[in-house]
Amino acid sequence: MARRRQLYEGKAKILFEGPEPGTLVQYFKDDATAFNAQKKGTITGKGVLNNRISEYLMLRLAEIGVPTHFVRRLNMREQLIREVEIIPLEVVVRNVAAGSLSTRLGIPEGTRLPRSIIEYYYKNDALGDPMVTEEHITAFGWAATPDLDDIVSLTLRVNDFLTGLFLGVGITLVDFKLEFGRLWENEEMRIVLADEISPDNCRLWDAKTNEKMDKDRFRRDLGKVEEAYQEVARRLGILPEAGVRDMKGPELMQ
Ligand code: TMP
Repeated sequence: MARRRQLYEGKAKILFEGPEPGTLVQYFKDDATAFNAQKKGTITGKGVLNNRISEYLMLRLAEIGVPTHFVRRLNMREQLIREVEIIPLEVVVRNVAAGSLSTRLGIPEGTRLPRSIIEYYYKNDALGDPMVTEEHITAFGWAATPDLDDIVSLTLRVNDFLTGLFLGVGITLVDFKLEFGRLWENEEMRIVLADEISPDNCRLWDAKTNEKMDKDRFRRDLGKVEEAYQEVARRLGILPEAGVRDMKGPELMQ
């Protein structure tokens, strides 16, 4: 494959120039970080699994009419995506209390919330992704009110759909984080779902035992991290048949 120009390296992914204008290649690494990269590690095979899991979920969402940046998976660790202007927000949806909500408000982990709650965080590593409100978002021009309306309605649809999809495979969707981008087509701008949806940015608990099947196993040193990601893929019916350990994927091209 031709050498591609690297545009951006994040904590878990790398973006390369795509084969056609308006496209990018998203490469999934095995690197894992937590607590704003104060904790670093590797989860073997994570990139391969997250590439598959995110492909699967984005395709299912596209089927119900949620616009996404996803075009197609290229290989074990790469997918072709549309280039979008990322809105600098982490949109978190919570169905069950956990993580920072439990810490901040003293609500025990596992408490079902009276309704789904959406929170916004300003994407800025130097500031540690602080929580912000609609007031900050519109005042500082990160998104306009109509953009936020689209973001909220898409987020609620994604939550409803994914809650059902995961429940169907015995998993409770506790909470997750989405990112959105602006996509221009013939002078028209659309808000589309971007980034990835995977156990890196969802809390997924076994519906019967409440066992954690997501990145909290890494964040909290619970062990069996690789196994948890594999189990999510297995339940979704998309575990690569040959497994992931012996699948290195393409060499990183810089
Ligand atoms: P929190 O409880 O730590 O605020 O996390 C809420 C959800 O957002 C959880 O599913 C993990 C996800 N998340 C990210 O994807 N990236 C992040 O940087 C953080 C802090 C959380």
